[in-house]
Amino acid sequence: MVERFSFELSAVDGAARTGVIHTPRGEIRTPAFMPVGTAGTVKAMMPESVRATGADILLGNTYHLMLRPTAERIAALGGLHRFMNWERPILTDSGGFQVMSLASLRKLTEEGVRFASHIDGSKHMLTPERSMEIQRLLGSDIVMAFDECPALPAEDKVVAESMRMSMRWARRSREAFGDRPGHALFGIMQGGVTRDLREESAAALREIGFEGYAIGGLAVGEGQAAMFGVLDYAPGFLPEDKPRYLMGVGKPDDIVGAVERGVDMMDCVLPSRSGRTGQAWTRRGSVNLRNARHRDDPRPLDEACTCPACRSYSRAYLHHVVKADEIIGSMLLTWHNLQYYQDLMAGLRAAIAGGRLAAFVAEFHATRAEGDI
Ligand code: GUN
Ligand code: ZN
Repeated sequence: MVERFSFELSAVDGAARTGVIHTPRGEIRTPAFMPVGTAGTVKAMMPESVRATGADILLGNTYHLMLRPTAERIAALGGLHRFMNWERPILTDSGGFQVMSLASLRKLTEEGVRFASHIDGSKHMLTPERSMEIQRLLGSDIVMAFDECPALPAEDKVVAESMRMSMRWARRSREAFGDRPGHALFGIMQGGVTRDLREESAAALREIGFEGYAIGGLAVGEGQAAMFGVLDYAPGFLPEDKPRYLMGVGKPDDIVGAVERGVDMMDCVLPSRSGRTGQAWTRRGSVNLRNARHRDDPRPLDEACTCPACRSYSRAYLHHVVKADEIIGSMLLTWHNLQYYQDLMAGLRAAIAGGRLAAFVAEFHATRAEGDI
């Protein structure tokens, strides 16, 4: 068993990298896609099914779990891994980002953020220190620093002040995290779409020192071109020998563009959430199973996919269960979408290792351009 958290790069192709993050709970092959298990479950999936798609690590959320069932209760029951029956690595987000999108009566100060729960209106306070305590109680393997992320577009002055507070919170997070061998703390770069602010944020984080570095504050309304604009330089501001995690991204073409630009880890609710609305992601783009054109179609969703939805069911059946709001519709399409995402990551890793990423990306775009058949 590897006792310490470490990152081993095995190959690069242009700005893209592939490697392995070693943790006491297992290896994470990078570039990695982390399915989102917000409330202690990847919705509509058993943990062993999530693993069967090829996932090495899940994401959990401080915000949701502190409210229900509470971090203290999870700790008393042996921690989040045992509680949700996922013994592999878990990364937890630190809460501030979710407070801003979900909670009400938010009051942001230097100390932290006070808010009312979206579940029952109860009052809570999150600070860097409390976020570190909750993530420790959960037993998270990769802990995220406590940060704040302004919605874009925003004035430079607003983005700068928010970023500087997040950097002060990053230092407090580092101090509160303490010395926890085998566990990692990741800092989060902010700074919107302004190069100078991104550079200043990266310098602040590097000076504090983290086991990994996230790029936050993207996919918040700026659009893909602006996001790729930031990703053209932001990964280069971060240490080469540490994992880089792009938070909350994205669609398959966002993921491919991020990996090309040097990102090692990503998470997004998209594959699981859209699976519950009848939207499938395939090599040929997105397919809406609610569409009547699937009603009499005996073919699989994607003949090249190995997931249960594609191996054992027709488009006609998937259309039927989605239209009828049957639970198995959510289960099958979530499984398929997560399988597609993990297969895409495996393809990217193999292409980088083989020095043929450009050809892989060209093929990815050409197949999507053909559209669904
Ligand atoms: N998820 C998506 N973007 C962000 C961000 O900027 N910060 C945090 N903590 N989580 C995120
Ligand atoms: Zn499938």
